[in-house]
Amino acid sequence: MIERRELTKRFDVINPFDMDDFIAHEGYDMLKKALTMDPLKIIDEIQTARLTGRGGAGFLTAIKMNSFQTEIGVKYIVCNADEGEPGNFKDRYLMEKDPHQIIEGMLISAYATGALKGYIYIRGEYRKAITIMKHTIEDARANHYLGTHILDTNFSFDIEVRRGAGAYVCGEEFALIESIEGKPGRTRVKPPYPAQKGVYQHPTLINNVETFCNLPFILRIGGEAYQNIGSRYATGTKLISLSGNVQHKGLYEVPYGTTIRQVIQELGGGTPNNRPIKMVQLGGACGAIIPEELLDMDIDNERFEIFDSKMGAGAIIVMDDSHDLFDIILRNMEFFAHESCGKCTPCREGHIQLVRLVEKFVLYEATEQDYASLKSLASVIHETTLCGLGQTSPTSIKSTMEFFPEEYTKRIAYRRRGRSL
Ligand SMILES: Cc1cc2nc3c(=O)[nH]c(=O)nc-3n(C[C@H](O)[C@H](O)[C@H](O)COP(=O)(O)O)c2cc1C
Repeated sequence: MIERRELTKRFDVINPFDMDDFIAHEGYDMLKKALTMDPLKIIDEIQTARLTGRGGAGFLTAIKMNSFQTEIGVKYIVCNADEGEPGNFKDRYLMEKDPHQIIEGMLISAYATGALKGYIYIRGEYRKAITIMKHTIEDARANHYLGTHILDTNFSFDIEVRRGAGAYVCGEEFALIESIEGKPGRTRVKPPYPAQKGVYQHPTLINNVETFCNLPFILRIGGEAYQNIGSRYATGTKLISLSGNVQHKGLYEVPYGTTIRQVIQELGGGTPNNRPIKMVQLGGACGAIIPEELLDMDIDNERFEIFDSKMGAGAIIVMDDSHDLFDIILRNMEFFAHESCGKCTPCREGHIQLVRLVEKFVLYEATEQDYASLKSLASVIHETTLCGLGQTSPTSIKSTMEFFPEEYTKRIAYRRRGRSL
């Protein structure tokens, strides 16, 4: 069995509304252990584990914690539960099925870095998750796991839920910070980074839901044992949101090192009716689209770095041979054109032009000049936008130009032969 259930092991075992049930299943044990440790030793363990952020960018968590820990005065911890990337649903499951695990991770992080206040920023559409997280926080507070003098120690920390209004860009760190402050979700120019100036201009540590859930796991088995799980590219386990043309869509937890094909075939049961897989999009709308021949790569293979994108937050979207490549790319580009916050010109105007160009391929009207324009505009947007939205949005175009060049040439040749629609 290729699954390794660590962060999901309590799913459907405990009642998410029952704190005693969580405690009876090792819940808050690692918080209690952490409170006996030197805070810096906790960060050391996370460093040894080589934990990377699970929100998409894959940055080393200990580096962020270290730099945040040295800041003094008021500082905040934020749990990013915006999960607006199409194809991702892992954070919703974590919140709905094991919510105290997230609070435990945030508490460990706060104790290690000296933060007194935290926010969980949840996308507005996740109504059930919002209800559960609010209930969980109240229970934790009533039982002295949140508030002042937690478990009769000198450690104090509290958490507030902030509900997003449904903008994809609000998952981006600075747009999220603006939104927490009650402003429209728009990115900021960086530096300074959130660890220096974040919420209300105070140092802020932002991590993804799944990243926080890894902290109790690391303390339980130790950093050394944790870094032995996975591959040479990445350590630990990864939650995969599997969707599209597979028989068993759903959430799976596998160690890094598992291949994309194993996830699709062994866990997903392959395509319905055994139709051939034409392409797979990794990470979500901002991820690379790869052909069937590349499915034997690890889920976090460095080869994807050529597109500045690896697995993102862990979506695998399978598409069989009934799909048109350009329909998929068009849907992605329309999504980004709609979700651009409008602050910077390349993103605001560029995505509208990308939609127009991709539409020409969809309608068999594209020329070689359109291909050249699409290629150069994709690069310009990638290189000049202010935030990660535009830096990653052209990935489906760039990756398909690399892996499916014949699809582009066939479309252009079709028009040249005078058979445009
Ligand atoms: C447009 C955009 C949307 C994002 N959405 C999310 C999101 O929904 N959840 C998330 O954790 N990170 C998201 N990110 C990444 C965050 O900016 C940030 O890197 C992450 O929350 C850091 O946490 P980590 O280090 O634990 O991954 C997004 C980034 C961009 C550019």
